[in-house]
Amino acid sequence: MKLHGNMSIKNNTLYIGGVSCIELAKKYSTPLYVYDENLIRSNCKEYKKYFRVKENGNKVAYAGKAFLPLYMCNIINEENLCLDVVSGGELYTAYKANFPMENILFHGNNKTIDEIKMGIELGVGRFVVDNFYELDIIEDLCKNKNITQEIYFRITPGIEAHTHDYIKTGQIDSKFGFALINGDLYEAIEKLSKYKNIKLVGLHAHIGSQIFDIEPFMDEVDIMMDLIKEIKEKFDIDLKEIDLGGGIGVYYTKEDKPNSIKEFCEAIINRVDKKCNKLGIKVPKLIIEPGRSIIANAGSTLYTIGSIKDIKDVRTYVSVDGGMTDNIRPSLYKAGYECSIVNKMKYEKVNNVTVAGKCCESGDILITHANVMEIESGDILIITSTGAYGYSMSSNYNKIPKSAVVMVRDGDDKLVCKRQSYEELLNLEII
Ligand code: LLP
Repeated sequence: MKLHGNMSIKNNTLYIGGVSCIELAKKYSTPLYVYDENLIRSNCKEYKKYFRVKENGNKVAYAGKAFLPLYMCNIINEENLCLDVVSGGELYTAYKANFPMENILFHGNNKTIDEIKMGIELGVGRFVVDNFYELDIIEDLCKNKNITQEIYFRITPGIEAHTHDYIKTGQIDSKFGFALINGDLYEAIEKLSKYKNIKLVGLHAHIGSQIFDIEPFMDEVDIMMDLIKEIKEKFDIDLKEIDLGGGIGVYYTKEDKPNSIKEFCEAIINRVDKKCNKLGIKVPKLIIEPGRSIIANAGSTLYTIGSIKDIKDVRTYVSVDGGMTDNIRPSLYKAGYECSIVNKMKYEKVNNVTVAGKCCESGDILITHANVMEIESGDILIITSTGAYGYSMSSNYNKIPKSAVVMVRDGDDKLVCKRQSYEELLNLEII
């Protein structure tokens, strides 16, 4: 198992941020999400540095869908990043955390009228407009309030990023954005002349998630820069901001060979410079929206091992006290993970087992082939890199309460999301 960020081993025991995982499991019980706060902050700082936020006025907007408790909003704000939200719920969270609304990008392919109203009333910085329906609603609401809303258009650039099919969003056959090849984008821009309360300031595209290849991003840059020139020539509109979305891949298992934040940012910035130079246009302000690459490796999940079922010559099932309710990614995407036993870190890995969850579903398997040391019921198992799309995609299937979230930093631990109680599980129910 790879040790990420501020993980270390002392006397065979795994520590994260200077705190023993055994002590964390004792203090907060399991399943428990543990986040390495210093790693989150250093990832934010790297993005700011290499994406030239200060020098070029570029922006890094953390994609809240990856993980967005109030505490995370505060970290993102303290690190001076912007925030990408996709729903009224995410927006409300940011609002309750006093996140500066002008630093928010509001995404979504079907924002409801109420969500759009909320965004306008709170004063979000940019709406990322996805379709004609939304455009009309924003105009109407802004006209009534006599304000102008700045927007980007989300475009579908038709790039096939090499990633899992379920999470590809850049292709032509997509529910997201205005397509280029069928003229939808141009039609939307033409319509703008009628809309007095909307100002188009930029374009956005997002080509997929967990992408290791830099090439699709280079294609995306080229398409976006070509569009700036074309839109200036055709419509005399100056687009000053280009939002390239998120999608940078991270390490989950040995098969994953991600680029560093530095490599990724430098490649983007160099390509933009080169392309703009070639086209003879001014370099726009750039925005990127990393989610996973800020938070995935910073989060791990601790579980207690319960039943161990050895089916001779077939398989050994090691069942833990969580599963698809706290991490749906293995069942949904066949996502791979690494694991270890936190009090036997230096032991040799001698067994190949299947780590199973506790839900009533045969597909509730967290890791199909895991190499582990000698294990016994009661051991604490850690699965690493569960920080992105774990807690945010968790559910109450089988009426299993949501797990707690703890931040660790410099030897201290802080509870940031309580474990849901049985009582709270019934909060919404009426008899
Ligand atoms: N911006 C937009 C418009 C997005 O749709 C997304 C992710 C991001 C940014 C952030 O992408 P990231 O840097 O995290 O790859 N649930 C899936 C991932 C879905 C991603 C959806 N959009 C998973 O667990 O793999």
